[in-house]
Amino acid sequence: MMENKDELVGGRVGKIHKVDETVVRPANVWTPNVHNFLEFLHSEGANFVPKPLGISETNEEILTFMPGEVYNYPLPDELLSDNMIVSVAQLLLRFHKVSEKYVSHLKNTEQWMLPSISPVEVMCHGDFAPYNVTIQNNKAIGIIDFDTLHPGSKMWDISYGIYRWVPFGNPDSPDSSGTLEEQIRKSKLFLDTYGVEGSSRESFVDVLINRLQSLVDYMRSEASKGNEDFQSHIDEGHLNLYLDDIKYLTTNKEEIINGIQSI
Ligand SMILES: Nc1ncnc2c1ncn2[C@@H]1O[C@H](COP(=O)(O)OP(=O)(O)O)[C@@H](O)[C@H]1O
Ligand SMILES: [Mg+2]
Repeated sequence: MMENKDELVGGRVGKIHKVDETVVRPANVWTPNVHNFLEFLHSEGANFVPKPLGISETNEEILTFMPGEVYNYPLPDELLSDNMIVSVAQLLLRFHKVSEKYVSHLKNTEQWMLPSISPVEVMCHGDFAPYNVTIQNNKAIGIIDFDTLHPGSKMWDISYGIYRWVPFGNPDSPDSSGTLEEQIRKSKLFLDTYGVEGSSRESFVDVLINRLQSLVDYMRSEASKGNEDFQSHIDEGHLNLYLDDIKYLTTNKEEIINGIQSI
């Protein structure tokens, strides 16, 4: 029978395809570890992630296709609502509640794309963003693209999730939305919904700055190794966006920490 093959957009150009009801995308050294993790999630009843179906002879991974829409920047208005913040914070919490069970299964010799971040509390998705979450009827229902999976702290994923979903960027960034006050209010809503304790909240700005700095370092090091995907990200100005956001967060750190406290 003829297979039905279509390119999927929203990620790397020309590399991700829908083949019938599956997704075919480049595999890497960490892909077998990611598949073990996704199998584990399904064995725990977490069906909001793709099921891994194998790795092909052409070194591509095959996964089930997740229903829903995936979005990119600039985000449309329906992605910027308070309901959406609540929905994605709930999805991240559900993910961490099951991904934390995998930590005791780690051999700690596994290779991942990104380094472990202490304290290791959960398996971090590593890029919990609108372009990696599927949405249906204004609800976040699925998580895709697990290349950035790694052991890490809850706040590592939470802070980056807030950055991506509020989105909490400097006012000159084409990706950001809302005034500082509005960004702080939505961050607090995310933290409240997830149920982050007061003491962890204080680390939000520092963790986010570290997360962005590690992204900048990773982009530079990959580009210098000849990775064209990252070189084009830099050429398109993404690295400077992150550096400007780090400055913005640093300048407004006190106001943000005061604004996100639980009482
Ligand atoms: N399992 C999946 N189910 C549904 N859509 C998917 C799935 N994996 C990828 N996609 C679609 O393909 C696009 C690019 O895939 P992604 O894996 O995020 O690529 P990249 O690694 O380049 O970011 C996504 O934005 C999404 O639309
Ligand atoms: Mg992606």
